[in-house]
Amino acid sequence: MNKKIKHTEVFQSFNIIVFGGDGDLAFRKIYPALFHRDQDQQLLCPYNIIAITRKNPTEFDFHAQLIHFINDSKERETSSLSIDNFSNKVKLIQIEDTKIENYSELVEYLNSFTNYQNIYYFSTPSSAFGPIAKSLKKVGLIHVTSKVVLEKPLGYSLSSSNEINKEITQAFDEHQIYRIDHYLGKETVQNLMVLRFANNLFERAWDSEHIDNIQITVAETLGVEKRAAYYDNSGALLDMVQNHLLQLLCLVAMEPPHELGADEVRNEKLKVLRALRPFTRETVQKDTVKGQYTRGTIQGEEVQSYLEDIEKFGSKTETFVAIKTYIDNWRWKDVPFYLRTGKRMFKKYSEIVINFKEVRHNIFPSKEKLNNNKLIIRLQPEERIELVQMTKIPGPGGYRYKPIALKLDYIDSFKERFPEAYERLIIDVIRGNQTLFMSQDELQEAWNWIESITSNWNSTTQSNILYESGTWGPGGDVLDEGSSWITKSWREE
Ligand code: BG6
Repeated sequence: MNKKIKHTEVFQSFNIIVFGGDGDLAFRKIYPALFHRDQDQQLLCPYNIIAITRKNPTEFDFHAQLIHFINDSKERETSSLSIDNFSNKVKLIQIEDTKIENYSELVEYLNSFTNYQNIYYFSTPSSAFGPIAKSLKKVGLIHVTSKVVLEKPLGYSLSSSNEINKEITQAFDEHQIYRIDHYLGKETVQNLMVLRFANNLFERAWDSEHIDNIQITVAETLGVEKRAAYYDNSGALLDMVQNHLLQLLCLVAMEPPHELGADEVRNEKLKVLRALRPFTRETVQKDTVKGQYTRGTIQGEEVQSYLEDIEKFGSKTETFVAIKTYIDNWRWKDVPFYLRTGKRMFKKYSEIVINFKEVRHNIFPSKEKLNNNKLIIRLQPEERIELVQMTKIPGPGGYRYKPIALKLDYIDSFKERFPEAYERLIIDVIRGNQTLFMSQDELQEAWNWIESITSNWNSTTQSNILYESGTWGPGGDVLDEGSSWITKSWREE
């Protein structure tokens, strides 16, 4: 079990065993991802998909739902025959609970394939991860080539996350564990690495000498949908910042790794997380804002308040959070990083804005303000990169200028279909490439920093600021002077 082997070259054939196999994530993301990779001829090796369910859906209902979601995910011509063929590959096995006698059908099925790697995909609540891993080990289904994919949330605190890790590592080694953060599978997020490390231009100016501040925003129009119980335990900080926003921050702020190996990249990200300045009682009040949505209108449709959505009055869970933080290292000395995310906002968009410093001296006679350069990396929904620069307005009569953006729209430059994040990540699991998955060390450091916020939120009187659904969230006159940075820097559209 301890010997590290290169999976890619040795094992082509695989079984992917999805626990929580009739769950929302499995239907919406995992099966469609496998289907599309299959369509693109990337799964030419023999493989099987096994959906593990606790209840017993009929084969007919399960496959009808599977076909429905695959049809839903189609963005291209696909024959119904290929969807049927794929759907027939998914075998249903019921395992009611983790008692090992319930695993006999799975054992028998998996053991009928020799030289297949088994990929266990845990898409259940994380409280079930440990018990499932333990049962798999007991029934002898974990081999040196086996892997496990863990879906978030990996706990609700540092200690619960460590507890899960302890249980998982009693069955799997770290090199077999794939902690998924789907943001790392997004094309535009991966392009961040190329933008930074394949272009000399930007890297030269990527530091506190040239950059004034960096802003990372993930705004959503969705509310909590059908996940009230989960979300009310997490809130925006744990649901989005602890994983997705911190991962984006790491990619923006890390040093160049010497090559693109998993250890190299993850070690550089880890250094960023370690250098994040922890919050104190004073700084948490000054530099964090949390909010909760009330009723409002989004794209012409009236929506309920958070409390109505979760049917639990009095909940103090935040659905919006904004944080100003610093990375205490040589490169980023005194550069504020603003992280913002919220549900039921005015519009859905995710972007990273690098705000460069102003030029040192204005030589132009009008002395009109010279706006600073901005590099805007729009992650979604329209993937593009903009470089905002000052440009002369044509005409005689002296120098007049205004900011204009050089734009690179992904959609115009690349005609091919962009694979969904899960497609890329699942292929990486099959191939044994851990670069885009979080290491346990990263997770632990992220929790340390997050807990410097939660512990101080809990010990102070800081409460949610209510914001109307369909707006830009808390801001303006409801905030005190100290936090006015929060609205100042939203992008003007
Ligand atoms: C998930 C969160 O991880 O990411 C959800 O649990 C959120 O609350 C989702 O809606 C956002 O992902 P995306 O890809 O739509 O930006």
